[in-house]
Amino acid sequence: MLVDQNDKVYTELWKISTHVKSLEASIIREILKISSQPGVISFAGGLPAPELFPMEDLKLAMGEAIKKYGPAVFQYSLSRGITPLRELIAQRATERGTKSDTENILITAGGQQAIELVARAFIEPGDYIITEYPTYVGALQAFNYYQARYAPVKMDDEGMIIDEIEEKIIKYKPKLIYTISNFQNPTGITMSEKRRMELIKLGSHYNIPIIDDNPYSDIRFSGERIPTLKSYGGDEVIAIRTFSKIIAPGLRIGWLNGPKEIIPVFEKVKQCTDLHTNTLCQYMIYEYIKAGKLEPHIKVIIEDYKAKRDLMVNTMRDNFPEGIKWTEPNGGLFLWVELPQYMSAKDLLPKAVALKVAYVYGSPFFPDGKGMNTLRLNYSNATHKGIVEGIKRLAKLFKDNM
Ligand SMILES: Cc1ncc(COP(=O)(O)O)c(C=O)c1O
Repeated sequence: MLVDQNDKVYTELWKISTHVKSLEASIIREILKISSQPGVISFAGGLPAPELFPMEDLKLAMGEAIKKYGPAVFQYSLSRGITPLRELIAQRATERGTKSDTENILITAGGQQAIELVARAFIEPGDYIITEYPTYVGALQAFNYYQARYAPVKMDDEGMIIDEIEEKIIKYKPKLIYTISNFQNPTGITMSEKRRMELIKLGSHYNIPIIDDNPYSDIRFSGERIPTLKSYGGDEVIAIRTFSKIIAPGLRIGWLNGPKEIIPVFEKVKQCTDLHTNTLCQYMIYEYIKAGKLEPHIKVIIEDYKAKRDLMVNTMRDNFPEGIKWTEPNGGLFLWVELPQYMSAKDLLPKAVALKVAYVYGSPFFPDGKGMNTLRLNYSNATHKGIVEGIKRLAKLFKDNM
């Protein structure tokens, strides 16, 4: 609450917009507050491992950027992003099978801003969006601000169930299809190649943009790499990418890869928000990648997170009681747990915190607030010791409450 010395409550006195009033504080941020209490082993966040941030190489890259480009790195710059970074991103995408030109790329302040720009550009109050069920809570927050409604589609091991999508397209005439096709947040599920092709066909047939929010595809530990939705769908797809999980989230550099004609639309929308993304960080990342540092660094991340995923999954197998299911993702930062239907992960969280372990309960990820028996566990930001101990504590908690 915003209170001054005279105890005036400004949030009540001033007429804050109804859009903002309807925004709920991110439940995950609230849970993070609890779980950051001393001694709590937290599987709640979605944070990369800070000890892996390439501090020295970023320092060098920043020095290089300042030396080479001088005052330009501290100056205003283009809303679509600095050209060399856009070129490099387009080239990297093309090398990996997603044919892209510089004109397809708009640099954003992280993936989250790209989601927001999409929402701002497309959504009018009451419009429907097809999402996975469950889906990324940060996207729901951005879409909620514009008063979107949802046509959520259930998933199996191969991602969204395609027949359900077509039914919902016909019934709700959605503006967008929003998917996290690789190592989904929150479930860790990856959409199969067959489903990708079917989804593209649907998007193209009904002329609905497919938004592929893809922060995790570079972090694959096992299984075959599957080409991106955009590599099948070309201009049918707007891809959202970010350096947050493969370099560092604090730099706030992401991008959007879409049809050339739509980029100026997002550029206009972005101008209203922040004029342009941080110039220095763009040059720094450019120099970092140019120096050949990114791909070896991704290998380091993969090795570290793979060991943590293996340890978490193995400890769960050894300790979790019968009746609990979980996903075993081939990449990314999260896995997803389903307790028996009658159990509530939300009700159990205070007991978990009393045992000094925390997770995010699943219901905020469901557009309709259901999924009470589900929870998300993050392994990237935990220590090996913490993973073993934390999972054992959760196992005891679940057993005691079954
Ligand atoms: C699916 C998804 N989209 C977007 C984001 C936000 O990424 P960024 O930090 O680049 O804004 C996240 C972060 O956790 C995410 O999981």
